[in-house]
Amino acid sequence: MPAITCIDDLKEMHRRRVPKMFFDYCESGSYTERTFRENTSDFDLIRLRQRVAVNMEGRTTASQMIGQDVAMPVALAPVGATGMQHADGEILAAKAAEDFGVQFTLTTMAVCSIETVAENTTKPFWFQLYVMRDEEFVANMIERAKDAKCSALVLTLDLQILGQRHQDIKNNLSVPFRPNIANVLDISTKWRWLMQMAQTKNKTFGNVVGHARGVENTNSLSAWAANSFDPRLDWEKVKEIKKLWGGPLILKGILDAEDAKKALNVGADAIIVSNHGGRQLDGALSSIRALPEILDAVGDKIEVHIDSGIRQGQDVLKALAMGAKGTYIGRSYIYGLGAMGQAGVTKALEIIHKELDTSMALCGRRDVKDLDRDILLVPEDFEGRWQ
Ligand code: GLV
Repeated sequence: MPAITCIDDLKEMHRRRVPKMFFDYCESGSYTERTFRENTSDFDLIRLRQRVAVNMEGRTTASQMIGQDVAMPVALAPVGATGMQHADGEILAAKAAEDFGVQFTLTTMAVCSIETVAENTTKPFWFQLYVMRDEEFVANMIERAKDAKCSALVLTLDLQILGQRHQDIKNNLSVPFRPNIANVLDISTKWRWLMQMAQTKNKTFGNVVGHARGVENTNSLSAWAANSFDPRLDWEKVKEIKKLWGGPLILKGILDAEDAKKALNVGADAIIVSNHGGRQLDGALSSIRALPEILDAVGDKIEVHIDSGIRQGQDVLKALAMGAKGTYIGRSYIYGLGAMGQAGVTKALEIIHKELDTSMALCGRRDVKDLDRDILLVPEDFEGRWQ
């Protein structure tokens, strides 16, 4: 097997080893995928300023996100159905994150339940909440996150209605896996995935089945999922959830300075500048392009994090130098998971860490906590003149 040297290598292995419907689910953006593409191409527009003859000994990537120590400010983002990319995917990713010293975020739409992940890990992870119509389910989910000793709640604000990803429909995507003929032909070549899946009992949305009213078995799940996200979610509701939770709160899906100010007003501990990996509003700005205006508006009052488009350590460096205090990777670690399970997630973290550390050194810097825009070359019209 050729050496794995970058995230793209893991992506190719992921593509070869995991059923097409799940690889495509990970790889898709909504509609034309313009925002999905620009999340990465806009990072490429920013260049780094090479500096030389600066002592580069004693470098560190250690930092904090919402006051919690991290080996580097790169967390694993919540990703739906991670346990379909690899058997027990959420447990494996959480373990890899724990060993590496970064945060893992478990999604509401996980395959392995919050209790299962807590049983199989030793350090607190973060829990991402979707606000559902079923208020009892939401209140219970928050209690379950407290019982699991989760150390932050990440509340997603940009998915009360689903942006269409064409490929999921074409592929007949379903969780649990209900293959049609095309799927069967495809998975017959994915024997490794199949054998591992055959050995686990975690095959459906573990946080939901048996917990949400009317979802006692997996047959009723798809009906639940189609109608369950609460379209009435507003800032009042966010305040209620903050009160119910009572712990550190991170608001995910902020792409506009006005919304960033509102997040600040409700007393969130951090915001994540995000367009959901280009999976929701197609035509929205890329996260890295939206970041400067949001930093200008609230950057000195609230911790600003970013996700969407990070595929290499250089992207992390650019986001931090721009002023973000934390970053998240989704696809970049899912590629690793699909490719090689826990070892693949570790590999993804190692790759990104090494790229971050090396590029920081080549910019003449030694500490991720002291980065600033001085190391960036940002095109004059990067933020754009939008009317
Ligand atoms: C869910 O969060 C998705 O983007 O599919």
